[in-house]
Amino acid sequence: MTANPHETALLGKIASHEARLAILGLGYVGLPLATEFALAGFRVCGIDPDAPRVESVNRGDSYIGDVNSAVLAGVVAKQLLRAATDPAAIGDCDAVIICVPTPLRKTKDPDVSFIVDAVGRVRAHARAGQLVVLESTTYPGTCEELVAPMLAESGLEVGADLFLAFSPERVDPGNKRFTTRNIPKVVGGITEASTRVASALYAQIIERVHPVSSTKAAEMVKLLENTFRSVNIGLINELALICDRMGLDVWEVIEAASTKPFGFMPFYPGPGLGGHCLPIDPIYLSWKAKLLDVEASFIDLAAKVNAAMPRHVVEKIAAALNDEAKPVRGAGILVLGVAYKRDVADVRESPALDIIKHLLARGATVAYSDPHVPRLRYDGLDLAAVEPTPERLAAADCVAIVANHSAFDYAAIVRHARLVLDTRNATKGLAGQARVVKL
Ligand SMILES: NC(=O)c1ccc[n+]([C@@H]2O[C@H](COP(=O)([O-])OP(=O)(O)OC[C@H]3O[C@@H](n4cnc5c(N)ncnc54)[C@H](O)[C@@H]3O)[C@@H](O)[C@H]2O)c1
Repeated sequence: MTANPHETALLGKIASHEARLAILGLGYVGLPLATEFALAGFRVCGIDPDAPRVESVNRGDSYIGDVNSAVLAGVVAKQLLRAATDPAAIGDCDAVIICVPTPLRKTKDPDVSFIVDAVGRVRAHARAGQLVVLESTTYPGTCEELVAPMLAESGLEVGADLFLAFSPERVDPGNKRFTTRNIPKVVGGITEASTRVASALYAQIIERVHPVSSTKAAEMVKLLENTFRSVNIGLINELALICDRMGLDVWEVIEAASTKPFGFMPFYPGPGLGGHCLPIDPIYLSWKAKLLDVEASFIDLAAKVNAAMPRHVVEKIAAALNDEAKPVRGAGILVLGVAYKRDVADVRESPALDIIKHLLARGATVAYSDPHVPRLRYDGLDLAAVEPTPERLAAADCVAIVANHSAFDYAAIVRHARLVLDTRNATKGLAGQARVVKL
């Protein structure tokens, strides 16, 4: 077999780190990736239509928790990383990585318009010998059915002149142990050559690359991972509701079941799913399955159970207040943690938003504390964070722990508050004057 000259040339540039990279989308996924490649000595251009983000990157000022500003400023100063709103730089690049959002439409169908927009920009500047990688989470078949045909309109042969691969992003914002470098990376190309060049590129910054046979398999890997989490969280949320009705502490049950050394993996209940992945990604899969006439029953059921949790939290608050002969109307509720999970600033799809809205609709007075979210301006809400001082904790009719940030002083919370609704088992083993009601 004669080697493809484009493949040989690109592999050479990757190995010598002379390959120039463009990263489309400088968000939670794109900015850490761009920084990591720049740290490895690649010249990277980040492209994003969001001008304030672009200016911030070029000032070396990070807006993503997992990217340290000093590190960012270092690679910007060395001219290894720069950002632009203009996609023209794509033409000078050897590899283009797309990290744009993949939300849902109002109708709960996949919204791939950001992918279409980004691929359109790549097509306009495409040239032979480039590699295009899609990292955005999407339904299996996106690269084959949508991206490849769009790129082929450039006149280049996709997979031979223009390499195309899918590599799912697995970043876990706020996780200090697993970061871009040590999270293994799955790569699937539209052709074997595409898999080889994309794997070679990621191997420069990632300890372990795991190639799969196709873009579709790689797309499915990501959806399996997130569906696995969503379904298991749905199951444990359902178990929490059953335990609640039986007067059992679900946390005690999970802890005991976790002593089994095989065949069990603990998942924990909570106030509902949030963030940009778990509430959304499985729906991409069930949407595609429906098109193929397969019913994704587990996915839809888990989504339903998980979506009902914020309302369950509000009912628990109402019942706990009722025990003290207090109505929700007029009660002062202090919500602790509005981010969708521990130690992050991301409020997208956060269950706290629904909880606050339900409480407000029922006439409660709601304040919130969150060291990561000084202002909550989202989804029709506009609130400023307050400090969880002993006086505020004592004054609240109920303190609801929704995101268990490590910065909260849980001992002080149970010492000063009168009633605590703990959706995360954050007060485990702590005693104080508060009556603690667990999820
Ligand atoms: N956030 C996570 O933890 C995470 C983890 C794994 C996978 N993902 C997936 O990765 C993708 C990106 O997620 P994110 O959290 O980084 O999103 P984000 O919203 O933080 O960032 C996306 C960026 O893309 C930019 N953008 C929009 N259209 C563009 C275009 N046409 N060209 C260039 N840039 C464009 C936006 O301005 C924004 O800055 C999504 O598919 C998401 O599901 C996210």
